[in-house]
Amino acid sequence: MSEALNIEDLRTLAKRRIPGFAFCYVDGGADDEVTLAHNRAIFRQFRLIPRQLRDVSNIDISTQFLGQKVERPFGICPTGYNGMLTHQGDLKLARAARRFGIPFIQSTMSTSSIEDIAAEMQGGEHWFQLYVLKDHSISARLMERAHAAGCSTLVVTTDAVILGNRESDRRNYTRPQVLTPSRKINVLLHPRWIMDVLVPHGIPIFGNLTEFLPKSQWSARDGARFISQQMTRALDWDHLERLRADWPGKFVVKGLLHCDDVEKAIGIGADGVILSNHGGRQLDGAVHPMEQLSAIKDRIGNGCEIYLDSGFRRGTDIAKALSLGAQGAFIGRASLYGLAASGQQGVELALNMLWDELEACMGQLGCASVGDLRPEMTIAGAPI
Ligand SMILES: Cc1cc2nc3c(=O)[nH]c(=O)nc-3n(C[C@H](O)[C@H](O)[C@H](O)COP(=O)(O)O)c2cc1C
Repeated sequence: MSEALNIEDLRTLAKRRIPGFAFCYVDGGADDEVTLAHNRAIFRQFRLIPRQLRDVSNIDISTQFLGQKVERPFGICPTGYNGMLTHQGDLKLARAARRFGIPFIQSTMSTSSIEDIAAEMQGGEHWFQLYVLKDHSISARLMERAHAAGCSTLVVTTDAVILGNRESDRRNYTRPQVLTPSRKINVLLHPRWIMDVLVPHGIPIFGNLTEFLPKSQWSARDGARFISQQMTRALDWDHLERLRADWPGKFVVKGLLHCDDVEKAIGIGADGVILSNHGGRQLDGAVHPMEQLSAIKDRIGNGCEIYLDSGFRRGTDIAKALSLGAQGAFIGRASLYGLAASGQQGVELALNMLWDELEACMGQLGCASVGDLRPEMTIAGAPI
């Protein structure tokens, strides 16, 4: 771990530390992974214009997300099945987020329950991500639990009503949740992971779903099947508006990329949106949020807060998004690589890397605060 200098180094360590099937699950994208690759390439297209001779002896990277102070202008994305990377993966992510004063968005598909994470996040920014399900009473119950547990913000994911075709992941299985013989052998070559994840506790289950399933169907296989049957393709703006009306806290729509959709989100009362292509795991060929950010800001001004995710691996990536008007960035795989490499310590290392890089970048740009990052400091050009 001490040799890891950046997120890519953590990715390399994660690849070594966990079995191949688990790494593919985290690392892979949809179809030909064109969007997955684009999510990194795009940041090379945006370049920074530094200002000199400004006092940057004290750099403050704190900001506000939805009216609450956050110590750093980034947070942790919702990701499902984190308990497969390390025992109690969600709890470790949540603890690291609380220590760093940043939001943790817990997935519907978390391997911990809402209540367990809430107990860990006391005083921290615990947001809950909802997959809207066919059975409205389940969505309603999850929202009720999230509110009762003190989640400040509901994040509704809109871009996964049809699951992306993740072939790199599917190749590991002969049928759902049954690994191919070579992947089974590969698992045996990871005794440390077996002792951490499998042996003492058994295969992790979906902590938020147990209430809706008989005990005999709590397994990951049954839970995944239940959710895939429950995903509704009928999700539309009317439905989202009703969810907004039912949720008493802040409301964020995740997975938008089109200006008109962001305007609609504001129209139904959203406080924020997360522009996202789901980290290249859904529609292959989708644009990157950075390509849409300026146009969306021009159209909506301060109509709601704009967050971005997908492909953030460097502090400079975050600085570019902030300078073009994003309120903050959310990171998915960057924190998961840390989690898989070394649990909570690995997540904290990842967050520290991004923090240090962002602070250094802001200093080199002549910015002592997040508010000093201005649109004229970032230009788009041909890739380098
Ligand atoms: C392993 C994994 C699981 C994910 N699970 C969810 C999920 O349960 N809900 C959700 O809204 N997004 C999910 N996402 C998407 C992330 O929230 C986020 O949009 C994406 O990871 C950002 O891209 P990045 O990983 O390149 O940072 C998942 C992403 C990964 C990598």
